[in-house]
Amino acid sequence: KVMAGLAVNVDHIATIRQARGISYPDPAAAAVLVELAGADGVVAHLRGDRRHINDDDVRNIKKIVRTRFILEMAATDEMAEMALEVTPDLVTLVPETREEVTTEGGLNLSAAMESTTRMVDRLQSNGIPVSIFIDPDPGQIRLVRDTGAAIIEIHTGAFCEAATLKEKTAQFEKIREAVGVAYDLGLGINAGHGICYNTIKWFAGMREIDEFSIGHSIVSRAAMIGMDRAVRDMLALIKGL
Ligand code: PXP
Repeated sequence: KVMAGLAVNVDHIATIRQARGISYPDPAAAAVLVELAGADGVVAHLRGDRRHINDDDVRNIKKIVRTRFILEMAATDEMAEMALEVTPDLVTLVPETREEVTTEGGLNLSAAMESTTRMVDRLQSNGIPVSIFIDPDPGQIRLVRDTGAAIIEIHTGAFCEAATLKEKTAQFEKIREAVGVAYDLGLGINAGHGICYNTIKWFAGMREIDEFSIGHSIVSRAAMIGMDRAVRDMLALIKGL
């Protein structure tokens, strides 16, 4: 099996733009840079409240991406219509609440089997593969299969945020077990949320994982690593240095 891929989430580029309410930085431009660096895909989460990515961003990213465009969205009619319009390469269904800072947990399928199954069917029958963002819980993963979705994205947040090694190890075991269950069910396996340049090392050997979905740590590092060059460029314009 080939090594896992990397899909980069560009939501935070839109968050920086929204801090000023002007036209830059543009997440679609970031998507191009992400691809030029070798990423296997670009992810954007269109939220009901449009707090970062907006409808035009989704259209622009889809138009410009040459690898794969993954649209993260809640299972609402409004989002289904957007997905059917832009036809992303994959839709990842996530739960969404207005108050959250970011996606807090996986989808609770036992409470939403019927609506989720309907959404999966609507998208997949139109040729759009669907992934379901899910906690590393074997019971929930079996329910994913029952929705007809072909892929899961395992929520790695609890592992990545664990404060102690003991807690980290316990959370990692949960993910390992979940990956085993999903693999035996024949589901495609993605993983994401909270993965940084330290936590990724834990997953490097897990060949069952097809793709990592990573945003915050990469955009943060881009800002830090790019700071030196950005300051020097401005100094050159001021002082001719
Ligand atoms: N996967 C899903 C389903 C998410 O909602 C997010 C955050 O938007 C990510 C992955 C990426 O998480 P992070 O920004 O912490 O890398």
